[in-house]
Amino acid sequence: MRDECIGQPRCWYILGLILFISYIPATTAKPPNIVFILTDDQDYTLGSQNAIKKITNLIGSQGIIFNNMFVSSPLCCPSRSSIFSGKYVHNHMAANNSVDGNCSSYAWQQTEEPRAFPVYLKNQGYRTFFSGKYLNLYGFPQVGGPQHVPPGWDWWVGLVGNSRYYNYDLSVNGTRESHGNDYKNDYLTDVIHRRGMEFLNQQSADGDPFFMMLSTPACHEPFTPAPQYADNFTGMVAPRGGSYNKHGDEGKHWLVRQAITPMPNDTVILVDDIFRNRWRTLLSVDDMVEEVYNTVKAKNMIDNTYFIFSSDNGFHLGQFSMPYDKRQLYEFDVRVPLMISGPGIKPGQVSSAPVMNIDLGPTFVELSGQSVPSQMDGVSMVPILMSDSSTDVVTRENFLVEHYGEHLVDNPGCPQLHNQGMMVCHSHCECQDSWNNTYSCLRVIGQGKNYKYCQLEDLLNFVEVYDLDKDPHEFDNIVNTTDQQLIAILKQELFDLSRCSGVACKSPPLNI
Ligand SMILES: *[C@@H]1O[C@H](CO)[C@@H](O)[C@H](O)[C@H]1NC(C)=O
Ligand SMILES: *[C@@H]1O[C@H](CO)[C@@H](O)[C@H](O)[C@H]1NC(C)=O
Ligand SMILES: *[C@@H]1O[C@H](CO)[C@@H](O)[C@H](O)[C@H]1NC(C)=O
Ligand SMILES: *[C@@H]1O[C@H](CO)[C@@H](O)[C@H](O)[C@H]1NC(C)=O
Ligand SMILES: *[C@@H]1O[C@H](CO)[C@@H](O)[C@H](O)[C@H]1NC(C)=O
Ligand SMILES: *[C@@H]1O[C@H](CO)[C@@H](O)[C@H](O)[C@H]1NC(C)=O
Ligand SMILES: *[C@@H]1O[C@H](CO)[C@@H](O)[C@H](O)[C@H]1NC(C)=O
Repeated sequence: MRDECIGQPRCWYILGLILFISYIPATTAKPPNIVFILTDDQDYTLGSQNAIKKITNLIGSQGIIFNNMFVSSPLCCPSRSSIFSGKYVHNHMAANNSVDGNCSSYAWQQTEEPRAFPVYLKNQGYRTFFSGKYLNLYGFPQVGGPQHVPPGWDWWVGLVGNSRYYNYDLSVNGTRESHGNDYKNDYLTDVIHRRGMEFLNQQSADGDPFFMMLSTPACHEPFTPAPQYADNFTGMVAPRGGSYNKHGDEGKHWLVRQAITPMPNDTVILVDDIFRNRWRTLLSVDDMVEEVYNTVKAKNMIDNTYFIFSSDNGFHLGQFSMPYDKRQLYEFDVRVPLMISGPGIKPGQVSSAPVMNIDLGPTFVELSGQSVPSQMDGVSMVPILMSDSSTDVVTRENFLVEHYGEHLVDNPGCPQLHNQGMMVCHSHCECQDSWNNTYSCLRVIGQGKNYKYCQLEDLLNFVEVYDLDKDPHEFDNIVNTTDQQLIAILKQELFDLSRCSGVACKSPPLNI
């Protein structure tokens, strides 16, 4: 049946249903524990998984390594808001990293937080623990300060603001705790690690099920490694293949074409330095996961514990000559690692099923033994996890990536812009975002289909379309050169998904 099912919408749903039904009996026992590790800005396409060998051995090799994991937006706060709410950006309304863009805003606290996935786990009797970065503006005075503890969490260690390694404040169960710059006491990844261990040491195989989320600053800016890892990976440089140091030609929208090609030598040196430091920061995450995993094992809980490892968005280092950032519509920014292991998951698998950050919440809720809340746009990955042959199970083919271009009014602006962009400066300044880098993209991955169709909201209504099978590095915009009927179908599907919510976001495969 499986072979016949590929690409057949109806039988594809039936297959999911059968797997779902066959899974139910296993959950009538005590719900499983879940450990969710979320890194910050960790790429998939630049090979950062090679830095985390322990995690790959303990989680990836013991379960499934996904190679088609995407985020709903290549920016921290919108993507994280999607993870918690299970919704696309146009439905959770956290458009950017600012309070007035709904990042951790009162509107978010009132509308989305009360039905985010932690609340469902709590209601199911889980003991819930959070440690690390939540949403970029969390804990700021204008959104309630560190006293605000999001509902659903029993034990809360939330970073105030955006990722840092030293000199930051935490909210510990609603009380501010300030940290300085002493490695032993303050290095944030290690603090998250130690607090996680405190929680874990209180859990037991015959106690309540637990959910713990460890949300590290690694490998986000300012890329500060622990001292013992400051010299690892010396001699490595950012990957040179694909679009590295290549010019974004007339097939690319305005912002991409601003990049200087070839990159100045000091930019090349800086980018390589950032590459190494990103990997170095991840070594502390590797240590954390190793101890957590071994402790779960030592406490005889490994047979009832899922481990999920992922990131909030990807990253680029020199692609199309853009120095370093995310926020772009290309694969390097919208793909992230995902590895999952746990009871019922056959080890040693690699899955190419297209999955997303909005699927994490539905997956956690279903693993806890409940059905997926109807307001969530994502699809549970449980049918993929429970299959003996996860590569054959596909839960969707069509999905959406949305970004609202950022522009800071108190920013001097990109070289040519006046208060209309965001920039990155080293020896010179370059635009990294602008109001007209606002876009929505349809991504289609299925048997014989591998497309991206992006609509920019700029002065030209620019469109970028790629056939990723033929052109994996997205050099060749085919909007005007390919079959216009294909373009029309992709455009219509993008229009529909951009307005979808809940079940309507689970659209059937396209006939293309
Ligand atoms: C913020 O969220 C509220 C409530 O969902 C919504 O009405 C408002 O339009 C959002 N603001 C932005 C800038 O998206
Ligand atoms: C935070 O609150 C939880 C639940 O009440 C409690 O178990 C834990 O000890 C508290 N943590 C700290 C550091 O106070
Ligand atoms: C980091 O560098 C140290 C010192 O050279 C070495 O012992 C260690 O194995 C390295 N760790 C990794 C993960 O490469
Ligand atoms: C495609 O054609 C339209 C209409 O002629 C034009 O405005 C646009 O720039 C073209 N796009 C590309 C990538 O060539
Ligand atoms: C930049 O680096 C290239 C390659 O290493 C070298 O050939 C070139 O001379 C350098 N340019 C400057 C201005 O230093
Ligand atoms: C975020 O979105 C809001 C609402 O559209 C806007 O007012 C604000 O300027 C945006 N922030 C940035 C940094 O672009
Ligand atoms: C993008 O915005 C910049 C700054 O406003 C402007 O100079 C440029 O023409 C815009 N390009 C497009 C295609 O909208």
